[in-house]
Amino acid sequence: MSKYTVVTMPGDGIGNQVLPEALRLLKAVGFDADYLHADIGWECWRKEGNALPERTVELLAKHKLGLFGAITSKPKKEAEAELKPELKGKGYSYFSPIVTMRQRFHLDTCIRPCISFPGNPLNFIRKKPGGGFEEPLVNVVVFRQNTEGLYAGVEWTNPPEPVRTALATHPKFKPFLGIPGPDLAVSVRIITRVAARKICKAAFEWAAKYGYKSVTICEKPNVLRETSGMMEEEAKAVAKLYPEIALWSTNIDAQTMWLTKNPEDYGVVVASNLFGDVISDAFAGLVGGLGFAASGNIGDEVAVFEPTHGSAPKYAELYPPIVNPIAMFLSAVMLLEHVGETEKAGRIRDAIAAVVKEGKVRTYDMMRIPGGAKAIGQGAASMVQMTDAVLAKVEASENAACALSGRERA
Ligand code: NAI
Ligand code: MG
Repeated sequence: MSKYTVVTMPGDGIGNQVLPEALRLLKAVGFDADYLHADIGWECWRKEGNALPERTVELLAKHKLGLFGAITSKPKKEAEAELKPELKGKGYSYFSPIVTMRQRFHLDTCIRPCISFPGNPLNFIRKKPGGGFEEPLVNVVVFRQNTEGLYAGVEWTNPPEPVRTALATHPKFKPFLGIPGPDLAVSVRIITRVAARKICKAAFEWAAKYGYKSVTICEKPNVLRETSGMMEEEAKAVAKLYPEIALWSTNIDAQTMWLTKNPEDYGVVVASNLFGDVISDAFAGLVGGLGFAASGNIGDEVAVFEPTHGSAPKYAELYPPIVNPIAMFLSAVMLLEHVGETEKAGRIRDAIAAVVKEGKVRTYDMMRIPGGAKAIGQGAASMVQMTDAVLAKVEASENAACALSGRERA
């Protein structure tokens, strides 16, 4: 029996392409794991009325470690229309299986590293005042509260009467009193002190562990006084325990501007759910975008790692596949780090860094050309060629290490 069991959930579209490529790398570095396939996503919704089947939940509950590709999700009406005929009108509602998984297993800490690989042509560059350009290297890790806030799912169009009555007790609801129910949509932003404290603590712990000099709490407490206010209050309380790490406070809107002015100034960034989602995409854009953005969803027991990108349906049918598997690789690297296999994680990360730096093998996104069937003809590497290149670097480093230890023995 292997030391670890990983529940693999490729999902939909390109999730099915990139996840198996990551497994090739995990095997190459000798990660001692069994892999159990689990269903998730659009096909499950269409056939079963549930995008996160109970059998998948059970596997995750049992093995506690998941690697996830991507899923397709569609708006409510389209989702209902695509249900198989026997299930239509039976009261099934589509819920995003990722959001459900996060809530079900209380995966309340989302970690999204946004770290530049030198030589990546997609890295952010900045004009120098005296002419020419500079490429500030970004080394940011976003901590996003993953289960609450505006994504808690407490929302209505046409809120029920007790909700309207409760809302009416707030003086600021006055302008909305006369709005007919069907024309009124409400999403509730819920922040609890315990969760706010926990995400801030996780951010500071990471900063301390990896030597970051600052933690930035990115909210909007001047307007969202209660919810962002509580996040900021808790960040301040946690900061007191880490006197060597500076706490900066920025507003989400200003932060999206500053991050293209001076991205190298930021270290760990912490935010509530929606703002964390936004700011992590924004930082990811500076280090290569969706082809490079990985994330970990961490709970007290279960942890699931996934690229940030979706199922990219427009590329899912192309042969050979053209998408960049690096975001999926980096998700596997995060999984390795999470279970303490840091040496193996480092080997994969270094191999990716070497391929990116060398610049010989680049997927279409790294060449800044349109994706599609023509990309390969224009010199883009296919997904498999990218994996092969990274694998070759993993193997080369292994051979070098063997040769070195051979010499030491001699
Ligand atoms: P997407 O992330 O699937 O794709 C957006 C665009 O980014 C693609 O058209 C492609 O140009 C590029 N792209 C994405 N991944 C790439 C990769 N690995 N390499 C190179 N280029 C890549 O987002 P989109 O098109 O908005 O959504 C498609 C479907 O995915 C929707 O059904 C959406 O709901 C779902 N989705 C799922 C997510 C998840 O599973 N975590 C996250 C985001 C969207
Ligand atoms: Mg997002």
